[in-house]
Amino acid sequence: MSRPMNMNSFEGKRILALIREGDYAHAGEEEAIERSLRPISRNEDSWLLDVGCGRGGSADYLRRNGWGQVEGIDRDSASIEYARATYPAVGFHVCDVLDVPRTVARTFDVIYMLNAFYAFDRQREALAKLRKVAKPGAQLVIFDYTVGPKAGDTPNPMMPHAIRLSEIAAMLREAEWEPGSIEDLSSDYVRWYAAFVDRIRLKHAEIEKIGGADSYSFVLSMYSGLHSAIVQGELGGAIVHARAT
Ligand SMILES: C[S@@+](CC[C@H](N)C(=O)[O-])C[C@H]1O[C@@H](n2cnc3c(N)ncnc32)[C@H](O)[C@@H]1O
Repeated sequence: MSRPMNMNSFEGKRILALIREGDYAHAGEEEAIERSLRPISRNEDSWLLDVGCGRGGSADYLRRNGWGQVEGIDRDSASIEYARATYPAVGFHVCDVLDVPRTVARTFDVIYMLNAFYAFDRQREALAKLRKVAKPGAQLVIFDYTVGPKAGDTPNPMMPHAIRLSEIAAMLREAEWEPGSIEDLSSDYVRWYAAFVDRIRLKHAEIEKIGGADSYSFVLSMYSGLHSAIVQGELGGAIVHARAT
């Protein structure tokens, strides 16, 4: 039996970055960033907030590609230390999402989360806190796992807080966000996780160098399980858009 590993820890994200060949811990890497931010115009005067930014690769990708100026928050201090050292043009803060209004010193035109919302225990409160740092009319983008059509009543234990598409609009309204379009990405998640599992196999030795002897079998079995859950329709993926009312 392999030693369990928290993939949201610094070590876990280092392994994900190795497999994804970039500082990303979300499905679909740069393709997913482009898809999520496609409806947002690129504007050097815009301010974007990356919530649960991890190692900072996505924040820097958006800055470099002209979406605007970017700040990132994450509660994992080791990841923020790495992000600050690696991407000095982005402002990074060690911060739980619930503390965002007292940590960031400005308001934002765009607030986005790439596979971070699913990790929040208190999602309703998180949406309300993020609303406090949104400019009037600001755009919110949530790229994340969803509860799939075949999930039944019990949430998949790997993603207990995956977005419930039947509930998300009400959750957003409660926090004073006006829900917009939802783009289903479930078939893209199948493709992305099939490729991801293949890449895990290719990086066997390097994964064990970072995470120790059991890390490869843990990571392979975890992501093979995630891929099967997505193929079977227990989990899916989507981009949810909203605006600050
Ligand atoms: C799967 S990773 C995604 C990281 C990043 N968005 C990316 O795409 O590379 C989820 C991130 O959410 C962060 N996180 C989880 N709960 C959080 C919270 N309550 N407040 C702030 N960050 C949180 C974790 O530390 C982790 O870096």
